[in-house]
Amino acid sequence: MAQALLEMRHITKEFPGVRALSNVDFTLHAGEIHSLMGENGAGKSTLVKVLTGVYPRDGGTVFLNGKAINPKTPKDAQDCGISTVYQEVNLCSNLTVAENIFIGREPRKFGMIDWKTINQRAAELLAKLDVHIDVTKTLDNYSVALQQMIAIARAVDVDAKILILDEPTSSLNEEETAHLFKIMRQLQKQGLGIIFISHFLDQIYEICDHITVLRNGELVGAYETAKLPRLELIAKMVGKDLNEVKDMDNFAEKSVPSDEVFLDAKGIGAVGKLNEVDVQIHKGEVIGFAGLLGSGRTETAELLFGINESNKGSLSINGKKLHLKKIGFCPEDRKLSGIIGDLSVRENIILAMQAKDGILRHIPYEEQVKIADDCIKLLRIKVSSREQLVKNLSGGNQQKVIIARWLATQPDLLILDEPTRGIDVGTKTEIQKMAISLAKKKGMAVVFISSEMDEMVRTCTKLVVMRDRRKVAELTGSDISSDGVMKAIAGGAA
Ligand SMILES: Nc1ncnc2c1ncn2[C@@H]1O[C@H](COP(=O)(O)OP(=O)(O)OP(=O)(O)O)[C@@H](O)[C@H]1O
Ligand SMILES: [Mg+2]
Repeated sequence: MAQALLEMRHITKEFPGVRALSNVDFTLHAGEIHSLMGENGAGKSTLVKVLTGVYPRDGGTVFLNGKAINPKTPKDAQDCGISTVYQEVNLCSNLTVAENIFIGREPRKFGMIDWKTINQRAAELLAKLDVHIDVTKTLDNYSVALQQMIAIARAVDVDAKILILDEPTSSLNEEETAHLFKIMRQLQKQGLGIIFISHFLDQIYEICDHITVLRNGELVGAYETAKLPRLELIAKMVGKDLNEVKDMDNFAEKSVPSDEVFLDAKGIGAVGKLNEVDVQIHKGEVIGFAGLLGSGRTETAELLFGINESNKGSLSINGKKLHLKKIGFCPEDRKLSGIIGDLSVRENIILAMQAKDGILRHIPYEEQVKIADDCIKLLRIKVSSREQLVKNLSGGNQQKVIIARWLATQPDLLILDEPTRGIDVGTKTEIQKMAISLAKKKGMAVVFISSEMDEMVRTCTKLVVMRDRRKVAELTGSDISSDGVMKAIAGGAA
């Protein structure tokens, strides 16, 4: 057997109150695409950060091509040939594409930065990845997907042997993901070892040769993807046996909406953003907005919430004009519009309630504790304590805190925009069940927006299909199916 490119042995990492990794082994070969899988908080990102010198490890050894290495900073790791692209692209948006690729290692001529060479080399490098853009424009001109490609170009140009991608696809559409996969395969052929982290099982099975599973900071095992059926993978991730996992998918019956109309939007729209849309939401209904990225799903949700003044149309709730405080909106982008890293889990959860009640009404500490603890239990948020700072939670658990925040306000209408993005498979099902049960038991009206058709189909009682910023179909009952939605998106249905 060929010598491994990377061997991590007995890796241990502790944070105050948490053992994030205990005695973990991980092996990566050249020319391999290897996934790290596990529930939110299992330790995937921590393993990567220990490898790349972001955190010092508390124990264990790391070998690169058989030689022990000990990178203390990401720069050290990069000098060893280990490059990382994180989900939140860490480039500078006000520098040009070329500057971003060469920052810190600019080629010079007679002591001066050689811009001509920089621009030319950047363009060549991107062309190899099949990206053809103007490299002299600033980064903020380009989509997140392109920015990620640029980060990859930078990462592989520094003579990388190992490329690490930690949830790179969570904000990419299908086409962009396909492009990324093409690049990954190309780099794989060149002999790079690639570590790929994602919660999308389809993607794992499409692109990865090997899977290493972590649970609660411990190694469960390493497997060949082809020999590990999906249900077994899930069972290993959640630590249950196969039959229990099969039960997880045994789905809760959908809610039955009442006849009572809760929200009635007529002809709402905003010039250039959304063409007039009619939407009625009944009490106890889980309504979904389906459609491709950019089809107007989020815009519609925002108009319902009133973030963007509806330029057109009317919005009434219980027959009366919109009353904002009754709606909870859980936004799509957790980094931009939600989490406050330096506040505790409890404080983050209480935030929306506090805003709703007015800052003058103090919520007694005991009440805050009870609400926070209930949410932590319900959503299985992995924390060492409710007073832990949110920035120290794993990515998926931060997402859960935002959902908790809106749940705590007990709204009449809850808008969940991509609530399961970055959430592990087990909890995904829990969140879908939660949406159904809120509608059933509390008669709440729930808006559920997701790019994953399966979860919309199994959760929603009504699907509004959007295309090109207008509503093209409304499906209910047994008409709700992936097929039906796809047809409507493609223009096959009225
Ligand atoms: N800087 C930190 N301080 C304290 N605890 C931390 C810190 N970083 C991570 N942890 C804890 O370590 C554990 C593992 O977190 P990690 O981010 O590695 O999870 P993950 O597997 O990447 O999860 P996700 O799928 O949600 O991204 C979690 O319990 C987390 O709260
Ligand atoms: Mg992570």
